[in-house]
Amino acid sequence: MSPQKVEIFKSLQDWAKDNILVHLKPVEKCWQPQDFLPDPSSESFHDDVKELRQRSKELPDDYFVVLVGDMITEEALPTYQTMLNTLDGVRDETGASLTSWAIWTRAWTAEENRHGDLLNKYLYLTGRVDMRQIERTIQYLIGSGMDPRTENNPYLGFIYTSFQERATFISHGNTARLAKEHGDLKLAQVCGIIASDEKRHETAYTKIIEKLFEVDPDETVLSFADMMKKKIAMPAHLMFDGRDDNLFEHFSAVAQRLGVYTAKDYADILEFLVARWKVGELTGLSGEGRKAQDFVCNLVPRIRRIEERAQGRAKHAESMRFGWIYDREVVL
Ligand SMILES: [Fe+2]
Ligand SMILES: [Fe+2]
Repeated sequence: MSPQKVEIFKSLQDWAKDNILVHLKPVEKCWQPQDFLPDPSSESFHDDVKELRQRSKELPDDYFVVLVGDMITEEALPTYQTMLNTLDGVRDETGASLTSWAIWTRAWTAEENRHGDLLNKYLYLTGRVDMRQIERTIQYLIGSGMDPRTENNPYLGFIYTSFQERATFISHGNTARLAKEHGDLKLAQVCGIIASDEKRHETAYTKIIEKLFEVDPDETVLSFADMMKKKIAMPAHLMFDGRDDNLFEHFSAVAQRLGVYTAKDYADILEFLVARWKVGELTGLSGEGRKAQDFVCNLVPRIRRIEERAQGRAKHAESMRFGWIYDREVVL
């Protein structure tokens, strides 16, 4: 990114302090995984675990596949912090830098770290999933990293994170809803509390892009179009368990079928962001900027048409054995 653009992020330091850091929750006011797990020092620990396992029995295998995939995605957090620190003008230069951007990234990471931690411990206690297979998948995934094609550019980077926080908000919200439908209210609460963090993070990242639209509309709309042309790659797209070369596609197919995260959600998120940033109402853009604006604004109906056509095609039910659930078979 040009030094002139880097300067924009430097000049937004105080703005970020007053407008972005306020979306972090003080540690003392945050929930912790232990608040939702049996207390190992308590007399009732064994009974509480028994009860948790009893509730989990009502949850189907395909639900576990999706919840495990979501948990693995959260557990690859080192990759996401690395990604944020590739971005020019906002990266944490020392590891403990006191710029607003660096403070945000570290505290965001610390908040996110509770998500994988809680889901991992919860799933472990259910006894329904093959933890060793899951742990291998996490190790592979962190080792593989990800390339969201944000090119060290915070305009692209924060568009990506705006999209992703909303995607995870939707996904955890849906696993909460399904847990409730299967009668597991405690697990519904677990997924719901994580979804509420994602929502708060979405608010912060979309506010950054809203500000960039205000100070630099041309570059911001061009970046939005660029990111959408590249398509938003999911953070765990390089997922591998040592066996299945298309593990991410298989996991995604189950998430799609259960309605946890679908092609329709992708279009809905885009539609939401276009409205949130009032992209259609931008004025004073360059010729290129206007083209990008048109592209982004016309993209939602285009994606929806493609999605409808894909849905119309006859599908035969395929199934797949997932190592995460001891090779039990699940319909894709
Ligand atoms: Fe998360
Ligand atoms: Fe998140």
